[in-house]
Amino acid sequence: MSKVTWKPGTMVYPVPAAMITCGSTPETYNIITIAWTGTVNTSPAMTYISVRKERHSYDLIKDSGEFVINLTTEELVKATDFCGVRSGRDVNKFEYTGLTPIDATHVKAPLIKESPVSIECRVTEIKELGSHDMFLAEVLAVHVDEKLIDENGKFHLDKSNPICYSHGAYFGLGDQLGTFGYSVMKKKTKKTSIEGKKSSFKDTTDQVKK
Ligand SMILES: Cc1cc2nc3c(=O)[nH]c(=O)nc-3n(C[C@H](O)[C@H](O)[C@H](O)COP(=O)(O)O)c2cc1C
Repeated sequence: MSKVTWKPGTMVYPVPAAMITCGSTPETYNIITIAWTGTVNTSPAMTYISVRKERHSYDLIKDSGEFVINLTTEELVKATDFCGVRSGRDVNKFEYTGLTPIDATHVKAPLIKESPVSIECRVTEIKELGSHDMFLAEVLAVHVDEKLIDENGKFHLDKSNPICYSHGAYFGLGDQLGTFGYSVMKKKTKKTSIEGKKSSFKDTTDQVKK
């Protein structure tokens, strides 16, 4: 494979396109679509969002020190895009999209009822990086759609049809290609899991001495 070399840029894709809710009262509730987000620590569960200072949401998040990350789905993709191209300064995005704000348990910002996963966050640090400020935050609670939990208590996020954002476009997730650790699973265990499909990785697991 020969590669073309570009100057530094943002090229870590795909990423989430999450709808972040903020604001402390129904009059100030807002939704901003954010791609620069992710997990930064497992215990305590910590996350971040990077927001440009000029966004209407910036001051709402900075002043309250709180926000909610709402994961998005194929059904919500149009609303997700809308919340990323219109400002809460000009339009009430809850009213326009028909999304429903519901009370969170720890923060004043609302959850989006239609989102399969809503993550309540409290800001612990604001780091000025340049174009964006990074709001580092602790996860206070995670709310999941009970319809995605089966009778054995297993959570099936894939059933919500999550979307991702990759270099300017939204995509569904497509087929499952494997499960965590499948590349080193013993054959017997592997049968119950989905094997990798188009992988060029030569599986020598069974030859590895334990
Ligand atoms: C897919 C997508 C991802 C985005 N990611 C970010 C981001 O990570 N940080 C940011 O500041 N703006 C991001 N934006 C832009 C804001 O969502 C957009 O400017 C929005 O209109 C700001 O809303 P507000 O003024 O109501 O806060 C993104 C937009 C889209 C469509």
